[in-house]
Amino acid sequence: MSTRIGILTSGGDCPGLNAVIRGVAKASYELMKDVEIIGIIDGYRGLIQGEYKLMKKSDFSGILTLGGTILGTSRQPFKQMRVIGEDNVDKVKAMKDNYKKMGLDCLLILGGNGTHKTAALLAEEGLNVIGLPKTIDNDLYGSDVTFGFHSALDIATEALDRLHTTAASHGRVMVVELMGNKTGWLTLNAGIAGGADVILLPEIPFDMDKVAAAVQKRANSGKAFSIIAVAEGAMEKSEPTKRKERLAARSAAGFHNISEKIAAAIIQKTGCETRVVIPGHLQRGGAPSAYDRLLSTQFGAYAAHLIQEKKFGVTVAKVGNTITQNKLSDIAGKAKLVSPDDQMVQVAKSMGISFGD
Ligand code: F6P
Repeated sequence: MSTRIGILTSGGDCPGLNAVIRGVAKASYELMKDVEIIGIIDGYRGLIQGEYKLMKKSDFSGILTLGGTILGTSRQPFKQMRVIGEDNVDKVKAMKDNYKKMGLDCLLILGGNGTHKTAALLAEEGLNVIGLPKTIDNDLYGSDVTFGFHSALDIATEALDRLHTTAASHGRVMVVELMGNKTGWLTLNAGIAGGADVILLPEIPFDMDKVAAAVQKRANSGKAFSIIAVAEGAMEKSEPTKRKERLAARSAAGFHNISEKIAAAIIQKTGCETRVVIPGHLQRGGAPSAYDRLLSTQFGAYAAHLIQEKKFGVTVAKVGNTITQNKLSDIAGKAKLVSPDDQMVQVAKSMGISFGD
């Protein structure tokens, strides 16, 4: 009897999704003699609405280096999964029914934190689920690294490198807003790799005067330019901790985001010419880095072994140098945050980088 594997990609896309899909498929075809792979379209949306297709072996060729996801993706908030909306659809029941209808032996779910919460819910509901840790935010609990992170890190670092030369030529301050709403791994690592002078993270609220003082100190020592790497979710100590309230207060003051607010304060407090740059979704686009191609292939191959061993209710992880697994129930709903005591934060501080704290 054949093994029927369902695969879906959910949440924000990132480089490496296709490399993982390919890794799972190739290793499954090698390991198990009779395998059928069903691609579910646009993540949980396709699982709820019963949109899927039987994949051919050739669908998995030539996608190792391809960015995005060949299956499409969507954001389906976990909070809404058990809520019956105006369309009267019981989403959890629909997902279970479609799983049965497809005749799946297991379902592979590629995604980040929100995606893993729903994956854990489906496992609780009796489906054979395996998760795979995706996100450029690198904040999935229980895995040292997620696929997509290193590609985004390379892009963000290159952005900082390029901004360095133009900032130095003009003697300007560049405020560079990087992705990361709740966690600052990307900004922390890109900031260090890209030689930023100030790094501002969601986990370490900052004092605007201290940020301005760091810029002024450089100017006083003859360095007319500064690079500030700020995560999109960073906040001042004086701002409301609740996101909605914080954004409302900023918007009332005429700022669309934290980088605009910082730039205005730098100009006012130091008189330095300042520009804002937001690379945005460039950080999620394009081909995976070599690191992510390797990691994705390792993750995919490991997942195929889990399928063969009928080991479900888990998500693949990398801990130290080992690819391993965690129980979905142990990691779902938790996030891996940057601790102010993190060794990398201390390294940055010993380089004289200010966190504005
Ligand atoms: O979770 C990945 C991420 O890129 C975050 O860093 C960012 O805040 C968010 O997704 C952006 O989401 P969207 O693509 O829906 O605008």
